[in-house]
Amino acid sequence: MVANVLEINPERLWESLERSAEIGRFRDVGLRRLALSAEDKQMRDLFVEWAKTAGCKVEIDRLGNIFARRTGSDPTLPPVAIGSHLDTQICGGRYDGILGVLCGLEVVRTLNDRGLQTKRGIEIICWTNEEGARFSPPMMGSMAFARQIPLESVLATTDDDGITVAQALDEIGYAGAAPIGRAFDCYLELHIEQAPVLDREGCDVGIVVGGYKTRALRLTIKGDTGHAGGTPMAMRRNAQVGAGYVIAAVNDIGLGYAVDEGRTTTTRIESFPNLPGTYAEQVKLTIDYRHIDPARFEAMSKAVEAAIAESAKKANVEIDVATGWSWGTELFAPECIDLLRATAKELGLPYREMRSQAGHDAYAVATMAPTAMIFTPCHDGISHNVNEAIELTRSVPGANLLLNAAVARANR
Ligand code: HGY
Ligand code: MN
Ligand code: MN
Repeated sequence: MVANVLEINPERLWESLERSAEIGRFRDVGLRRLALSAEDKQMRDLFVEWAKTAGCKVEIDRLGNIFARRTGSDPTLPPVAIGSHLDTQICGGRYDGILGVLCGLEVVRTLNDRGLQTKRGIEIICWTNEEGARFSPPMMGSMAFARQIPLESVLATTDDDGITVAQALDEIGYAGAAPIGRAFDCYLELHIEQAPVLDREGCDVGIVVGGYKTRALRLTIKGDTGHAGGTPMAMRRNAQVGAGYVIAAVNDIGLGYAVDEGRTTTTRIESFPNLPGTYAEQVKLTIDYRHIDPARFEAMSKAVEAAIAESAKKANVEIDVATGWSWGTELFAPECIDLLRATAKELGLPYREMRSQAGHDAYAVATMAPTAMIFTPCHDGISHNVNEAIELTRSVPGANLLLNAAVARANR
């Protein structure tokens, strides 16, 4: 490491990660910390306690987004924001989201250790419900913050048990008083890559220059239920058969586009009546497809539409299609990407530029503030799986890049 640059405290980062991994433990090594659940509250409360201990002023907005600010010498200037999320998938890993939040806390803790004050403040952010696992869509807190989805519709969104976001926020005491929206000088997010490129290349730092185009479609497949025994095959309008044709066709499209980074899957299925002795009247599917290249994404999109129409005909059912969400970004700011490049060079850190295959809160924030992301490796790219794993020594370079880039930006 080059002399007189700042370095985080790896042991302290690891200790905070280990402590956080006790909250919402699932299948021993993983996490289940669904947004606005009791486990999410416990993690939020611990983060707020840590942030206050580190001297930050903590504010909560109407959607439970948490803002922990270390003030700068010039409080009139918007802060350098560093954020990610605390919530996880149901079979979640110990690092997705939380690593970025705790690296932000490490920036503050390290500045405190060194007694350094920055010109602009440093503000650590925990975005509500990045995963969209309990309440849909994903990136809910950051998208509402960036005015990409209306606050009222978000507050009225219900989970599978009919509980609204508003009720859940009240329940955990995170319906904050701060208004939605505030200015940032810039926004930086560190996140595990959630794909195998860095790990396999033996590279420890990714500078993210954009994100795969991604779309989720919500399909409602309408058939007609009947007796599984008595109804002649030719008379059946089995929605589950229509779903089966769609699921297989969408996967085959992904296999056909895999050669240049296409991805497709069916992420969710709900079937009715879903009972022995009958067949399905209605099935709801969520399908998700992604591509690194916009033109190929559009071609894949057309293939998906054709496959849906084909499946409806073959199963003699109707299929209604609605867009669930779409993301991907070319909006990461050149000035922030250049800052990361220059800082990595100054620190003597090898890096590679890349695009994100996963969605992140940074996509939404990039629509309202100069934004960039840093990736760190995760073992074999495994994520959204309890076996998600990182090596501390391979995560520290990215954390030091975040620290030094944030300070350089705050003091410019
Ligand atoms: O689906 C995504 O890419 C995000 O990680 N939830
Ligand atoms: Mn994440
Ligand atoms: Mn995730």
